[in-house]
Amino acid sequence: MTQDIVTPRDRLIVALDVPDVAAAQAMVARLGDSVSFYKIGYQLGYAGGLSMVGDLVRSGKRVFVDLKLHDIGNTVANGVASLARLGATFLTVHAYPQTMKAAVAARDASRQKTGSSLKILAVTVLTSYNDEDAHEAGYRLGASEMVDMRARQAQAIGVDGIVCSAEEAENLRRILRPDIALVTPGIRPAGSAVGDQKRVMTPARAIASGVDYLVVGRPVIEADDPRAAADAIVAEIAAALSEKPVA
Ligand code: C5P
Repeated sequence: MTQDIVTPRDRLIVALDVPDVAAAQAMVARLGDSVSFYKIGYQLGYAGGLSMVGDLVRSGKRVFVDLKLHDIGNTVANGVASLARLGATFLTVHAYPQTMKAAVAARDASRQKTGSSLKILAVTVLTSYNDEDAHEAGYRLGASEMVDMRARQAQAIGVDGIVCSAEEAENLRRILRPDIALVTPGIRPAGSAVGDQKRVMTPARAIASGVDYLVVGRPVIEADDPRAAADAIVAEIAAALSEKPVA
């Protein structure tokens, strides 16, 4: 996975959390070459945003489709095949073994059939869940035990990466192989507004914790100068990488 990363800029994924395609296209134009990787989630995806995936890919960008799939295996597999045809680079699924197995099998089939380079990321436990929420939902284990268990299952099944909080990253980096990508939201450059994120981390600390890709939304897209905000994060990533001891 980490062989896909060539420059510090490749590690910044900007969340296009905007209401419609026109706003997303305007933001992409404004960011220009300061951003090479975009995330499309529920808000934009369900407002026609998946139609942008092909255009972004043709213009040399990479796209993370964050639709967190979870359904019967056949439906998951068909969804993965469709997204692979669009040219997406990352797709999230919930970390249920059946769902992950279906997604990984469909990823491999798409790779063979179309040369797709789609990678599957697993969402272990939503970071809004604590132990009480997990028990209320019928789980025996607490949230952090479930994160560890599901991350190990994801690796065994052949998933390419894990979406995790910056706080979970250090532990996951220890228990997972180095080629499993860690992709982390909740990143806030020093001095920026925290918004509704409860647990935040600076880009530098995230890199030091072993995170591969940083997902950043509002600190870039709501900045007065989004381009400058993206450049500043990339500079912070580059500085943190140069300080990081080689593993
Ligand atoms: O604006 P902000 O930087 O908080 O955006 C973070 C992005 O990452 C959003 O698109 C959000 O859906 C996503 N995300 C998150 N926390 C998670 C998982 C995903 O903030 N635990």
